[in-house]
Amino acid sequence: MTERTALITGAAGFIGSHLSERLVADGWRVRGIDCFTDYYDPSLKERNLRGLANEPRFDLERVDLRTADLGKYMKEADAVWHLAAQAGVRASWGKEFETYTTINIQATQRMLEAALEAKPDRFVYASSSSVYGEAPEFPAAETSATNPISPYGVSKLAGEHLAVLYNKSFGIPTVSLRYFTVYGPRQRPDMGFHRFYRMIYGGEPVTVYGDGEQTRDFTYIADVTTANFLAGTVGRPGAVYNVNGGSRASVLEVLSIMEEATGREVQRDFLPKQKGDPLHTGGDPSKARTELGFQPEVDLRTGLFHMNDWIRELLEVE
Ligand code: NAD
Ligand code: UGA
Repeated sequence: MTERTALITGAAGFIGSHLSERLVADGWRVRGIDCFTDYYDPSLKERNLRGLANEPRFDLERVDLRTADLGKYMKEADAVWHLAAQAGVRASWGKEFETYTTINIQATQRMLEAALEAKPDRFVYASSSSVYGEAPEFPAAETSATNPISPYGVSKLAGEHLAVLYNKSFGIPTVSLRYFTVYGPRQRPDMGFHRFYRMIYGGEPVTVYGDGEQTRDFTYIADVTTANFLAGTVGRPGAVYNVNGGSRASVLEVLSIMEEATGREVQRDFLPKQKGDPLHTGGDPSKARTELGFQPEVDLRTGLFHMNDWIRELLEVE
């Protein structure tokens, strides 16, 4: 079989580094793009790529999607996974919004323009459950109303609209994946589970926003990687899919499992609910199951124990 070539933006990030490893292991040649933004410590991104350091079928371009000549990188790609973004929900208010518009919207449009010429077989766009906001129904189907409640969600929905639009107008085979709160090894340090483990091992109380009864349809990283692979190979051009783990749980339930996984007592420090955070998220998995054959395999408890092993190594916990 001829070797296939992937272009992955955000390849040094949490999800992008896992996807890069997965595709290389499956025999793909992978070209990653990442400019190591300082949204969180770039040394963590260097660390994410350690497993690919001596891999001849992986190379990384340290360029910024806002300015780079994207056609040059895309022209050899059979499939594109566009994961690069400014990803935090709660940090998207105020003057920071400019970063969200230039990366999540404008750079996405630049990527789609480059695809007009490069004509990849698939162009996967990393969308987000945040496009739903406070979903009007549970579980939320792809046809449910989208009413984002954070500026981040607005920017991800704009990117998704662009992806769908470039499919309708020019036939670019875009496939959009609405991932639901992803967790596991390499999770970003601004995200809930990473913060919780750090606080637990640091002997500090865990910061709980609101009453902790808010729920998320948490999705384990290996499952998200599989969904990406399927979308980039058999996803229906123009389609939008939920990618959710089916492990809907509250923050307080998560902390109880973490107590078991770490063997430490968890103190809870209740803080006000944060602007932009929906109370609940939950996705209808049927479309991804039927059309992509996607079925999440890792339940929350198993995933949290795996993540605990990783964080202990990262923090050098004895
Ligand atoms: P991440 O921040 O770990 O990875 C994103 C990477 O993109 C970073 O390494 C960053 O340096 C890079 N990047 C940002 N702007 C760039 C630019 N202009 N040029 C080149 N590189 C750039 O985030 P993640 O959690 O891995 O998220 C990946 C994608 O998935 C994002 O699009 C995010 O919106 C989406 N998403 C994530 C989650 C989640 O729970 N983590 C859920 C839904 C959607
Ligand atoms: C996550 C990602 O960070 C976004 O990039 C992504 O787009 C989004 O999922 C999505 O699904 O689309 P979020 O659900 O806020 O966003 O994920 P976490 O940061 O892991 O937060 C999970 C829950 O823990 C939230 O209810 C949050 O309020 C809570 N939390 C987080 C706390 O109670 N305390 C903290 O210190 C951090």
